[in-house]
Amino acid sequence: MWYFRAPRLIVFGEDALNHLKEIKGHRAFVVTDKTIAKLGFLDIVLEKLKASGKEVAFFDGVISEPPDDIVQACAKQLRAFNPDLVIGLGGGSVLDVAKVSRILNEYPDHPIIDITPLTPISISKTTLIAIPTTSGTGSDATWAAVITDTKDRNKMELTHPELMPYISIVDPSLTKSLPPKVTASSGMDALAQAIDGYTVQWRNDFSNGLCIHATRMILAYLPKVYENPDDFKAREKLHNAATISGMAWSNSFLGITHSFGHAMGAVFKIPHGITVGMVLPYSIEFAMKTSADLYGDFSRAIGIANPNDNDKDATLKLRDTIWKLMDELEIPRSLKAYGITNDEFEKNYDDLVRFTQESAVNIFNCREPTNQDIEQFWKYLFEGKSIDF
Ligand SMILES: [Fe+2]
Repeated sequence: MWYFRAPRLIVFGEDALNHLKEIKGHRAFVVTDKTIAKLGFLDIVLEKLKASGKEVAFFDGVISEPPDDIVQACAKQLRAFNPDLVIGLGGGSVLDVAKVSRILNEYPDHPIIDITPLTPISISKTTLIAIPTTSGTGSDATWAAVITDTKDRNKMELTHPELMPYISIVDPSLTKSLPPKVTASSGMDALAQAIDGYTVQWRNDFSNGLCIHATRMILAYLPKVYENPDDFKAREKLHNAATISGMAWSNSFLGITHSFGHAMGAVFKIPHGITVGMVLPYSIEFAMKTSADLYGDFSRAIGIANPNDNDKDATLKLRDTIWKLMDELEIPRSLKAYGITNDEFEKNYDDLVRFTQESAVNIFNCREPTNQDIEQFWKYLFEGKSIDF
């Protein structure tokens, strides 16, 4: 038996934000960050909520790679306001803080790290609305969140059905002013998630089609938006693709792009999308030994390989397509090329290996890495060497 989870409602397209006026509720608490506030999006959302007679309050203190103490601070304000609506307005970090704070609102003493599918958590006081302002993580359509453990500096990968938003509002006008670097980074996250989602061990009939379609859209529209940030039609497609990618992977799960990516982000503070994007071609090479058939099928389904290409050739076409895309998006191909020195790498190597080994997602990868594989993989990723083991 398996389950497919998605938001109860996805509102998309220009002016989707106007749906805020239709939502029933009396007291709305908005979680966001300073950039979103400065761009004026917070005011727009607060106005729409007030126009429909709601009392409002907000927390704008979210930072990227959000640490647990920020979540606790947000939850404290949320509890004091006692809302019936919790609204996340921002990128993946903001949405993740909104999701976890909403759980802490009703379970204040629950350790964040213990938010797992097996935890008996049931939320009754608030409804969660997610409004993504980047086109990447798809957190508006997932039952997952990532929060940094300040003591250990590792990332906690949390999953629970109560982390799934009730409504996701996918309004492309919020992405109009995203700088190309953020477009590139968040778009690579959506891509890595869609490809992982198709190839992991929990792949299934319900998520496979979403992974294929999200990947086709991202490959078509991400370079367009990067080249021309004013191409609004492409922005809209990319924004939709990110939510589709989120809905896809959260029903099949992620692979080693995210165990390595999370470790790299935790240690070197490199943006999440850059980390998982950088790992992606290596993860495909690593999987070829056991799972070229999966990647071959996928490459043919998304139309970059021919029906008569063998699995290995089709898989290599996928890898090369990603290398080409990364070059277009000016994303370095290795840690060394990113600017990490030998010294920095060696000093942090043990943590990189440990964090990766501790990640929950390795077991879902089509080829599950051994501890030794992880140690070796990091050395290849640093140097930019093709995986040959
Ligand atoms: Fe991600």
